[in-house]
Amino acid sequence: MSNIIILGAQWGDEGKGKIVDLLTERADCIVRYQGGHNAGHTLVVGEEKFVLHLIPAGILHPGKTCVIGNGIALDPQALIEEIDDLAQRGIQVGENLKISDSCHLILPYHRAIDKESEKQKGTRRIGTTGRGIGPAYVDKMARIGIRAGDLSHPKIFREKLSQNLQEMNYLMEKLFRAHGFDLESLYAEVMTQGERILPYLADTSLYLWEEARKGSSILFEGAQGTLLDVDHGTYPFVTSSNASAGGALTGTGIGPTMIDKVLGVTKAYTTRVGSGPFPTEQTGPEGERLRERGQEFGATTGRARRCGWFDSVAVRYAARINGLTGIILTKIDVLDHLKTIPVCTGYRIGTRMFTEFPHHIEDLENAKPVYEALPGWNKTTRGIRRWEELPKEAQDYIRWIERQVGVPVIMISTGSERSETITLQEPFPASE
Ligand code: IMP
Repeated sequence: MSNIIILGAQWGDEGKGKIVDLLTERADCIVRYQGGHNAGHTLVVGEEKFVLHLIPAGILHPGKTCVIGNGIALDPQALIEEIDDLAQRGIQVGENLKISDSCHLILPYHRAIDKESEKQKGTRRIGTTGRGIGPAYVDKMARIGIRAGDLSHPKIFREKLSQNLQEMNYLMEKLFRAHGFDLESLYAEVMTQGERILPYLADTSLYLWEEARKGSSILFEGAQGTLLDVDHGTYPFVTSSNASAGGALTGTGIGPTMIDKVLGVTKAYTTRVGSGPFPTEQTGPEGERLRERGQEFGATTGRARRCGWFDSVAVRYAARINGLTGIILTKIDVLDHLKTIPVCTGYRIGTRMFTEFPHHIEDLENAKPVYEALPGWNKTTRGIRRWEELPKEAQDYIRWIERQVGVPVIMISTGSERSETITLQEPFPASE
């Protein structure tokens, strides 16, 4: 048995979905711990494509338990839609899903406030997914949030909703000059959704602890990426949760000594969705080519992703923040067309050189990347499953990343299918 955190080492969309799906075969429980349906995992299984936003990808495998931890911001409507969609495609969600009764709910007013507040920010907008994530976490921290477990106490739920609506409607009507929400209809709507959700609620912290004691293997699946972490990311252009390894602890109620490995997923280049600094971004034809070749369009919003070269400053930072024990490198095949590949080794900010990731947004906005040019391989790596079959230049590119980041690359993804993977080190050893 072994417990592993797997998370994004960049700005999200690193291709975690496929890797989590692959690792799920050896895990007993698969756990989401932060974020909400702002995330999106695209999985290709045979001929079928699945896009999951809230439920861990493990749901596609029989005999696994999926857990939504307390750190998740849960939109009941989005959850029900996902359950129904899976059921229509022959995947039953029942005992195999457990949801923490301490999850904070995303309610319609959170979505409305998210959208209105983005409009107000103008050019400084974050470019959120508009799913209500930020405002739901605001309520959690302000200690006025409504938790999933409140749905089993209708009187308490109604009181909290009524009190919150006074504040939310004031904001909506007076600040945003938009429509507010009606208590009666909102109460009825959420209580109806609650009937569908209550059967899944559990003390998931206790459940995970008991499973670990029984010897089960647990996979903690991060959403978004380290650079979108509310504490350690490119603040304020971040999401509102802890997407780094610490989030797996606070977002599930398990202790740090229960974790055996922390694996960071990174693309062989870089992408970002939404606003905010991105030093190695390529806004011209080279970025466009990466976007086309990598099919860089959001699974949740369909937005075109910003694309650029691999940034070793950023990934080394992610290795430190998360205590990474291994790297999983994805989408190496997207670089197949290049004769030389620029890779960033540091930033020049004004007259100073930085090889560590700066914390202040102004520094990052003014950071000029310093590149080294590595030889490309200019032949296809798509679908390669063995290290020896990779072109020498691709092997050198991967070894260069390992040296720069200081963490071994243990898996390499060469295509979207599960089988299109090179495994150098099994994350869950076979004897476990
Ligand atoms: P929010 O999470 O909707 O509040 O959005 C905040 C920032 O995080 C925006 O820049 C989003 O584009 C970004 N973001 C949120 N979820 C994801 C994701 O799953 N992948 C990549 N970026 C994301």
